[in-house]
Amino acid sequence: MSLKGRHLIDPNDFSLEELDEIYDLADRVIENKDAFSDICKGKILGTLFYEPSTRTRLSFESAMLRLGGTVLGFSDANTSSVAKGESIADTIRVLSTYADIAVMRHPKEGAPRLAAEYSLIPVINGGDGGHQHPTQTLTDLLTIRRYKGTLENHTIAFCGDLMFGRTVHSLISVMARYKGSCFELISPSELRLPEHLRFSLTEKHDVCFHETENLEEVIGRVDVLYMTRIQKERFFNEADYMRLKDSYILDRNKLKNAREDLIVMHPLPRVNEIGYDVDDDERAVYFRQAEYGIYVRMALIALLLGVNANVESK
Ligand code: NCD
Repeated sequence: MSLKGRHLIDPNDFSLEELDEIYDLADRVIENKDAFSDICKGKILGTLFYEPSTRTRLSFESAMLRLGGTVLGFSDANTSSVAKGESIADTIRVLSTYADIAVMRHPKEGAPRLAAEYSLIPVINGGDGGHQHPTQTLTDLLTIRRYKGTLENHTIAFCGDLMFGRTVHSLISVMARYKGSCFELISPSELRLPEHLRFSLTEKHDVCFHETENLEEVIGRVDVLYMTRIQKERFFNEADYMRLKDSYILDRNKLKNAREDLIVMHPLPRVNEIGYDVDDDERAVYFRQAEYGIYVRMALIALLLGVNANVESK
């Protein structure tokens, strides 16, 4: 099935072959960026951001501009008719006639799925509450594939806020589909991976996972260390956040026991969880990861729009 005209709401909406198609095109973009500079000429991306964002919104905008298209939308719902009480269904219906493809970020889980039901154009979920963040997952998978050469047989440690971190939820659910995945889940007991996700991991026979509160205990045996921010905005009470916010701080000293070929990832923004002294370590790939977010979004937009991406090298 072609990706043309499809929505991306949950990364598991796509088969592993379809995901490969996206990473393959992203690899081609990385090798030859100029060749793709006008494949979306005349196309418009609508950005509907009901929740703060730096990287996701700007990387989508940058991706569309680098493909030769244009962008319109809002980054603060208070400046749109949402402030007057307009429903998501009506907003997307109208936007469908103004743009060719849309990306939506919303604090409520399921909002982009609802928008997709009323939309005449492809809708991409740019993050919905603590639920999913599929384009961050595409970014993460492209990063792992480029550094490790494959998405199979990796031991990945997720560290920090596994309860509310939507990037973790999305990435785990896709990595569990690749052969030989093993997870080390590192979090304070209050911020463990939600029960339904742990249950779905136990259902999958080829996945092993282990939970711990101790980063040092597992750092020496993992291929990928995925650090996350404690999600302040999803806490009900400030005192809990203050108590848990500095649970894990990765520094150069802790990295001494890690493998030479480890990669340290982070969806960013970071707060305190990775010391600045780690940035120069070769294993720290989070800024490169953020850059890959542009190329993977370029590939995604081109494939969902169904434009011709078989361009000659420039
Ligand atoms: C993440 C998010 O919004 O969920 N950021 C991002 O999109 N790169 C991670 C976070 O906010 O901690």
